[in-house]
Amino acid sequence: MTPTPPAAVMILAAGAGTRMRSATPKVLHRIAGRSLVAHALAAAAELDPGRTVVVVRHEREAVASHIADVAPHALIADQDAVPGTGSAVRCGLSTLDATTVAAAVAAGAIGDRAVLDNQVQGSVVVTSGDVPLVDGALLGALVAAHEEQGNAVTVLTAEVPDATGYGRIVRGTDGAVLRIVEHKDAPAEVRAIREINAGIYVFDAAGLRDALAHLTTDNAQGELYLTDVLALAREAGGRVGALVAPDASAVEGVNDRVQLAAAGGALNRRIVEGWMRAGVTVVDPATTWIDADVELEADATVLPGTQLHGATYVAAGATVGPDTTLTDVEVGEGATVTRVHGSLAKIGPGATVGPFTYLRPGTVLGKKGKIGAFVETKNATIGAHSKVPHLSYVGDAIVGEHSNVGAGSIFVNYDGVTKSSSHVGDHVRIGSDNTLIAPVEIGDGAYTGAGAIIRHDVPAGALALNAVSQQVVEGWVERRRPGTPSAAAARAAQDADDSRGLSSGAQEERAAAAADHKGEA
Ligand code: UD1
Ligand code: CA
Repeated sequence: MTPTPPAAVMILAAGAGTRMRSATPKVLHRIAGRSLVAHALAAAAELDPGRTVVVVRHEREAVASHIADVAPHALIADQDAVPGTGSAVRCGLSTLDATTVAAAVAAGAIGDRAVLDNQVQGSVVVTSGDVPLVDGALLGALVAAHEEQGNAVTVLTAEVPDATGYGRIVRGTDGAVLRIVEHKDAPAEVRAIREINAGIYVFDAAGLRDALAHLTTDNAQGELYLTDVLALAREAGGRVGALVAPDASAVEGVNDRVQLAAAGGALNRRIVEGWMRAGVTVVDPATTWIDADVELEADATVLPGTQLHGATYVAAGATVGPDTTLTDVEVGEGATVTRVHGSLAKIGPGATVGPFTYLRPGTVLGKKGKIGAFVETKNATIGAHSKVPHLSYVGDAIVGEHSNVGAGSIFVNYDGVTKSSSHVGDHVRIGSDNTLIAPVEIGDGAYTGAGAIIRHDVPAGALALNAVSQQVVEGWVERRRPGTPSAAAARAAQDADDSRGLSSGAQEERAAAAADHKGEA
């Protein structure tokens, strides 16, 4: 069943995260292409809450500005100097209440009525900025249980083999949840309990507000514990329920970098499995990494050692990998992308890229085009059916359709001061080892000779060449490099020619050709 959207989701992210030993706040560390807090925000968004608020304090500016980027609609609440999760939720709730009242004032809904009537009402989900495996489905199940049971508080719990450090769920003989006891406050018999508090709850807003007012710091850590709200809610006559997470590993928090990597691996397995179930062939899930925001169509194939990041999109019938890393790359239907490192590029349907190809931002390859081995491209549009097959650099260029760029050609886009672009038309044949010095334009159907240096525009249909003629100096090696292996090889070849009795005609032709070249030079 689809639960009713909660009035609000609150994400706690004020803690220092000292065990990360990092200059970066814990909730900004990333797995699967998103920060930890962005995972929490994405899960929250799936509930379609009335409001979302993130409670911050440690590295406030960095965290708040990141949240503004990834979830501009989310409210920021600043935690005051009072430590503890209870204090964090107090601050979050007062921000929610203040903005709810402000919205009501703005909408003209508050007239004579008391401000109190316009505080947040209904369900408030509280979750943590450091539990990236908790998704919208799990939060939704918790909200559904809360609604079904008519609870004042519903807590997400898990049965774990080692409960050290967690708050323990203390149940009565009838199984009802009585209270949560923090590890540091727990006597031995409570520490023996394996059911732990995952730190994720649904509260009735009014009951939460009342209970928060009664929290004390009378505990081992001298903090305001949010967990004390459960016993207070019971005392006030509310029902307290629990949902035991079906997969305990999904509620594990990230406190250090070992857990960060573990959560990253677990999330990746979940994402990769999701795509396989959706019809994507993944040959080796263990070496395939797919970010949360990547999309693939059914019948795409991902070969071993492939990492798909950011907003990468792979269409049906395309094959990506092996050993390919794509960030924000769009791969068209039926395209083949082999051993490529690419970012912010678009590969057309049926196109071929690789092996050993570097696609830099702004590369656009048309339908059935090819960017081959040891080619680097940047800000380059290469039209349908056009090919840059071998050993080239194409930067700041537009190449039309059905054109070919010969092996080893360089688009010289930088004169040391400014960058310029070049334009190659349709059905053009750029010879091998060309140097195109931008800005230069090559008209449709033009050819350029091997080794050409193109400094000026080439009109449509013309042949451009500027290669120096070849000189042949007969016998030079034997005269000028005597005693070398080359001289010996030359002598042996000459002797073989002589003993085969090369026709006098052929010998004359050869001599004439040599003389010709000397003359030209
Ligand atoms: C908390 C729970 C514990 C539970 C565990 C699950 C309390 C008292 N204890 O313990 O029962 O088993 O989570 O992981 O709630 N935070 C703030 N402001 C603060 C303190 C914490 O925003 O002043 C945030 C943290 O950034 C974090 C979350 O609250 O996102 C949990 O804080 P943490 O210090 O990890 O709580 P635990 O002691 O692990
Ligand atoms: Ca924790």
